[in-house]
Amino acid sequence: MDHTPSPTATNDVHQGLHSERGALRGEHHGRSRDPLIKVADLAWLEFEKPDLDRAEAFARDFGFAVAARTPDTLYLRATFPGSACVVIRAGRASRFVGPAFRAAEARDLDRLASATGRSVRELRDLTGGRVVDLLDPSGIPVRVVHGLEQLPALPEQRPLILNFGTAQPRTDTTQRPPREPARVQRLGHVVLSTPVFVRALDWYLDTLGLIVSDFLFLDGQRDRGPTMAFLRCDQGSVAVDHHTLAMHLGPGTGYVHSAYQVTDLDALAAGGEYLAERGYRRSWGIGRHIQGSQLFDYWRDPDRLMVEHFADGDLFSCDVEPGWAAMSASGLAQWGPPATRDFLGSNPTPALLREALSALRADNEIDPARLLGLMKAMNS
Ligand SMILES: [Fe+2]
Repeated sequence: MDHTPSPTATNDVHQGLHSERGALRGEHHGRSRDPLIKVADLAWLEFEKPDLDRAEAFARDFGFAVAARTPDTLYLRATFPGSACVVIRAGRASRFVGPAFRAAEARDLDRLASATGRSVRELRDLTGGRVVDLLDPSGIPVRVVHGLEQLPALPEQRPLILNFGTAQPRTDTTQRPPREPARVQRLGHVVLSTPVFVRALDWYLDTLGLIVSDFLFLDGQRDRGPTMAFLRCDQGSVAVDHHTLAMHLGPGTGYVHSAYQVTDLDALAAGGEYLAERGYRRSWGIGRHIQGSQLFDYWRDPDRLMVEHFADGDLFSCDVEPGWAAMSASGLAQWGPPATRDFLGSNPTPALLREALSALRADNEIDPARLLGLMKAMNS
């Protein structure tokens, strides 16, 4: 499909730290001219876990509320109104199943179904609604849903009153952010790895109407195209998260991390202290990203799946064009501790080596130069 830019894509807000101005002539434009549909947002992420009690204990410490629990499924929700944003089913091993995106309109499901040869089904689940089940080019199951049961808002963790800049609104009172779980407001994004990056990228642009906020390329290999993209939903003039899906080229296929919004920096930091006190492992944080600008704090759940608290991320309307920058570990943050090997997934384990070797043999976008480029990016 044609990926020429839409006529409205004009603003360039990417000047600054580690970010170059934009695409060079002939480079990927980061959006489809005529996508099948335009999804509104991520609805939920689906996982399997061997121990639902342990999963629920971590989820509560991380700041989720439990929407429902059946003998074999745990539905987690956030404070914002809407559907459950994480669904965990009992399974033999801990694994990510796939994302569910929310269609803007009911007829989008019919359009999607007829174009892909799939069918629209009623969801026999506590979420209600209807679903079309797809597979992305990496082989990851992707659901598109509509008509979900809407849960009402839960009480918010109130942002603190801050004496910042020249304003001093807080007088005659102390600042005491409570040491408690950082209450999750909403699901923000999921990050996936794939050895068929460009194929998968084009599929998400053409099928779900996602648009690119930022591209990353391997240093010295820009002429071979991007190797990471941060994708947002196209909601026209409505500004949405800088990325709802991020995807990068890698030897492995699947989940890297998912991210959940909390109210402010103090909630994020105090919530982090709460997790640390309970013996959970921080993967990387606290810092502020470049692509997306979020304040971030990355954690490992008891099964070592990575989850992120974030606050204060960029919100872009459809007018913002993709930025282009070289991929590097130091380019992941404006400030904060150096990216850890745990976060980068660069600990040289036998499993990683096996994965790299089999990716080199398979029909995909991984070759020795790219593998070397990825390794160099993790150390630069
Ligand atoms: Fe993230």
